[in-house]
Amino acid sequence: MQKYSQIKEKINLDTITEKGENSAFFTHYLHNRKNGCSKYFIKQANDFFQNKTDESLNEYLKEEIIFDIPYPENKKTNFTFIDLFAGIGGFRIAMQSLGGKCVFSSEIDNYAKKTYEKNFGEVPFGDITKINEKDIPEHDILCAGFPCQAFSIAGKRRGFEETRGTLFFEIARILKEKQPKAFFLENVKGLRNHDKGETLKTILAVLREDLNYFVPEPEIMNAKDFGVPQNRERIFIIGFRKDQNIEEFKYPKPINEKKSFADIKESKTVSVKFYLSDTYQQTLKNHKQRHADKGNGFGYQIIADNECTNAIVVGGMGRERNLVIDCRLKDFNPVTKIVGEVNKDFWRRLTPRECARLQGFPDEYIIPVSDTQAYKQFGNSVAIPAIKATAKNIIEKIENK
Ligand SMILES: C[S@@+](CC[C@H](N)C(=O)[O-])C[C@H]1O[C@@H](n2cnc3c(N)ncnc32)[C@H](O)[C@@H]1O
Repeated sequence: MQKYSQIKEKINLDTITEKGENSAFFTHYLHNRKNGCSKYFIKQANDFFQNKTDESLNEYLKEEIIFDIPYPENKKTNFTFIDLFAGIGGFRIAMQSLGGKCVFSSEIDNYAKKTYEKNFGEVPFGDITKINEKDIPEHDILCAGFPCQAFSIAGKRRGFEETRGTLFFEIARILKEKQPKAFFLENVKGLRNHDKGETLKTILAVLREDLNYFVPEPEIMNAKDFGVPQNRERIFIIGFRKDQNIEEFKYPKPINEKKSFADIKESKTVSVKFYLSDTYQQTLKNHKQRHADKGNGFGYQIIADNECTNAIVVGGMGRERNLVIDCRLKDFNPVTKIVGEVNKDFWRRLTPRECARLQGFPDEYIIPVSDTQAYKQFGNSVAIPAIKATAKNIIEKIENK
């Protein structure tokens, strides 16, 4: 038996500076060396290994590999999936926990790749626009929390070819080639009304008419209905290949488990670095006042321990809409360079771990990047419990076929 960490050390696997897709081919091969998907990765994996070690990969991998990472794949799996626009693997945790085996992942951001590798022992492939759909293994379910960039589908576009140049097209061309049994797409709620609903109409027309999938009416799902204290509404778009004769799909009903910030709050006093400076606190107060004078409800928001947080999002006032008052701080000496002093009202931001919990990431999930990257990664990610509840219903449908 050999550990994944030893293999990594042997080849000096580096996710951030490694050029090209070598580490993606290599780690995908490690995960798929015993199934039909190995043919998609073996040649590049072999060449890479030989270049690094002068040894044959086949000889070296004779022993069982122990994946010493937080989310090794299941011993027994009952369906396969691919993880597109994978981010840090929110979909992957949900799908694996339901017995799924991931056979391909793609993510363009190097820091997200780093987090992904640390948790799943796999380096995602990079830019999906550069990957030929024929080079992606067969799979049962295509998962993609695709970026809102799909919004650039302009009003008059309708068909498959007309969506070319958008990230939605990347999903559509893979569906066309690989014809998985089902797909599960996630996007921001605003997709529903973008361009007076024309963008979503185009997406649905391509999926239903050009690609021939049964696509029930998309649903807006809220993370807070599935056991995390975050008010995060997202649109879920699901489809089933027509030959399976699936003609109806029920989205999961909210579970009766209302949580609040107190349930995910750090159990110990957090670093003073998460507390706002008094100068910034004043800026936020002024900003809010200016908007209030104009009749707007914009600006910072303090979340009480018994409340749900707002959606954690990247950019804008995202972080300031989720401030909390945490009176446990004793030492007000700053540990980072700040303008002014640490505020005396105990206002602080959420920690990256609290953000992880708001999205349903278990505490064993490793956060190997800076706070700035971590906020971005969790803000971009999915609320795992809502994904899992919905995916469970998808899997039940395809398994009954
Ligand atoms: C909304 S996030 C999805 C996050 C993911 N569902 C998760 O659980 O973390 C979209 C992701 O798509 C990635 N992305 C954007 N353009 C891409 C491209 N051309 N190829 C691959 N990934 C891309 C972004 O870096 C980002 O991580």
